[in-house]
Amino acid sequence: MPPATANLKSPATRRQQLLTWMHSLGGGVAVVPTAPERTRNRDNHHSYRHDSDFYYLTGFSEAHAWLVLVAGEVDQSILFCEGKNPELEIWTGVRWGPEAAAEHFAFDVAHDVKDLDTLIPQLLIGQRNLFSTLSRSPQPDLLKHLQGWLATAQHSVRDTRALPHQWLDLSDVLAEMRLVKDASELATMRAAAAISAQGHVRAMQAARPGCHEYELEAELLYHFRKHGAQSVAYDSIVAAGANACILHHCAGNAVVQEGDLVLIDAGCELDGYASDITRTFPANGKFSGPQRALYDIVLAAQQAAYDKTSPQQHFNAGHEAAVQVLTQGMLDEGLLQGTLSEAIETTAYRKFYMHRTGHWLGMDVHDVGSYRSPPASAEERPWRQLQAGMVLTIEPGLYVRPAADVAEKFWNIGIRIEDDAVVTETGCELITRGVPVAADEIEALMRAR
Ligand code: GLY
Ligand code: MN
Ligand code: MN
Repeated sequence: MPPATANLKSPATRRQQLLTWMHSLGGGVAVVPTAPERTRNRDNHHSYRHDSDFYYLTGFSEAHAWLVLVAGEVDQSILFCEGKNPELEIWTGVRWGPEAAAEHFAFDVAHDVKDLDTLIPQLLIGQRNLFSTLSRSPQPDLLKHLQGWLATAQHSVRDTRALPHQWLDLSDVLAEMRLVKDASELATMRAAAAISAQGHVRAMQAARPGCHEYELEAELLYHFRKHGAQSVAYDSIVAAGANACILHHCAGNAVVQEGDLVLIDAGCELDGYASDITRTFPANGKFSGPQRALYDIVLAAQQAAYDKTSPQQHFNAGHEAAVQVLTQGMLDEGLLQGTLSEAIETTAYRKFYMHRTGHWLGMDVHDVGSYRSPPASAEERPWRQLQAGMVLTIEPGLYVRPAADVAEKFWNIGIRIEDDAVVTETGCELITRGVPVAADEIEALMRAR
C-alpha cells in the first residue's frame, strides 16, 4: 500500500466547504486537476509533486488524477485516478486504484481516469456553472479539456440551456481557504520547521573555510531526507562570501574562504508543506567587527517586524518596522547619508535592502493568498489585516556590494535572517527557532564543532 497521508479528515471538510460556496453561486460542477508529470530527460521524469490546490482538497498525491465536485440536487465528491494495473505497478509502484482510494480518502465514488472523457460530459448536463482552477492550473491543457467536455455534452442534449453557461474560477476562493491554516496543517508545518532548523544546525557545524557550498547543501539534504521530509521546498541557497549578495544563489562550486560569511536559505517540504529558514554565519566561527555590526542590525530589524506580527496589525506593518530599523542602521554605519525620513521616502535604503520582509508560507513556499483587502475604492489597495492561523516568513536582510561610495570593510557582506511565524490570537510564534539566531549563540554552536 502507498503511505497514508497525514490529512485524511480535513480534505473532506474542505470539499464540503467548497460545495457550500458553489451552491451560494447557483451550484454546478467543479473540475480540479492535479499537476502533470514533467520530463527531466528523455523518458525520465522529475520527481513528482502534486498540485497544491488539488492536494488540499483531496490528500491524494498520485499523478494523473482529477477531482470533480458536483453541487447539485445531490452533492457528489468524485475522484478520477489511475486504475490498478499489477503489471505496470511492478515498474512504477503501487497505486491506490479507484476502489481503495474512494474509501480511504472519503470520496462518494472514484473512477478510472480513463473514464474522464465519458463521465464528465454527463455530469455537466443540467448544471448552471462550471468551476475550475482557471487562473492557477498546473494542467496546461485544462481549457482544452473543459471545452472538449462541453462540446461532447452538447451532442447529447437538445437544449444547450441545459449546460453550464458560466465558467467560474476557483483560484481565489481556494487561496482564501488555504491562507488560514487548520490544526493539522499547523502540526505538519511545525514538524517541517523543526526538521529544517536541525538541518541548518548540522550545516553550520559542518562549515569551515575550505569546504564547498555544495558540501553544505549535501548536509541539509541528508538531514531533510533522514528525518522523513520528501523534498526541499525550493532549491537550497548556500552562498559564501560575495555570493550572499545574490539573493537566490543556488549552492554551487564556490569554496568557502577564511573570513567569509555563509548565507544558507533552505527548508524542507514535509507531507506537502514548506518551511523556509535563512541563517548567516561566519565560516571560521567568529564574526568580524563589520560583519557583527551589520548582523545585529538585521537581527534587530527582524525583532521589530516580529513585534508587528499580530492580528492587531496589517501584513505590511512588519516590513515597515524592519525598513525603519535597517535604514537607521545604514545611516549609523555610514552606508547612507541624510535623515531617516529622507532615506525611507526616497527609498535610498533599497540599495542595500531590495526585497520585502515576508511572504505567506504554506503548501507553496510563496504561498497563495492576497496581501491586500478588497479595496473600498478604485484608488485604495489596503494591506490586509493579519489573522490567527496565517503563516508568514519574517526575513529582513542587508546586502552590500562593492562600490566607490561604500566603506571597503562592508564590501561583499550579505546577511539575511529568516524565520517562519504562525500568527496567534495575541501575536505570533516563531516555529523555526530550533536553530540559533543571536550572533553569540551562533558562535557558541560553532565553537562546539
Ligand atoms: N527561499 C525563498 C524565500 O525566502 O523567499
Ligand atoms: Mn522566504
Ligand atoms: Mn528563504
